[in-house]
Amino acid sequence: MQILVADHPLVAHKLTTLRDVRTPTYEFRRLADELVTLLAYEATRHLPVDAVHIETPVTAAEGVRLAGPPPMIVPVLRAGIGMLDGMMRLLPGAEVGFVGMARDEQTLVATTYAARLSADLTGREIFVLDPMLATGGTLETVIRLVISRGAAGVTAVCLLAAPEGLRRIETSFPADDTHVPIRVVTAAVDARLNDHGYIVPGLGDAGDRLFGAV
Ligand code: URA
Repeated sequence: MQILVADHPLVAHKLTTLRDVRTPTYEFRRLADELVTLLAYEATRHLPVDAVHIETPVTAAEGVRLAGPPPMIVPVLRAGIGMLDGMMRLLPGAEVGFVGMARDEQTLVATTYAARLSADLTGREIFVLDPMLATGGTLETVIRLVISRGAAGVTAVCLLAAPEGLRRIETSFPADDTHVPIRVVTAAVDARLNDHGYIVPGLGDAGDRLFGAV
């Protein structure tokens, strides 16, 4: 597994404002959107390209285009929806699938309540959007699902990650056994999880902060 922590002053600045408990919902949503676009730039580095021949207004030139098939973006409901526009901005040709996961707040175990994805993902690069990589249970489930359908590579884009979640993904998909490249791109790796499974220092409940508490 490859872990990329985006080390950039703009990322750090926006993340600090996201963490701040005084940041209102409308600003949180705008900042999360901007932060995802910055992370998307890093998360898409490995995408394959095809050489193409074009004509500029001046002369003939060689260039590249993203190779097919189109990537698939998979926001994990509910909070991943707040990351979708930021990701689509850089990948307007991507398709979108949805996975709904709900976490039992007592056991911290996540269960799948919806999966709207193509049955055949053969050769597709998948971008899973989940703001908080906490215990890693949700991400592990989604990665297993897309690999079982033929994904060529899986990149998780997370605003924040906990060491516990990263360890779980690393041990669940050992490089020797998993022949699908797995990457995690995040703005920061925080200190730990608390007893309620929240990332510390974190930013609280990402869904509530994006959409307002339910
Ligand atoms: N989900 C959240 O929204 N926040 C956390 O800190 C952990 C899981």
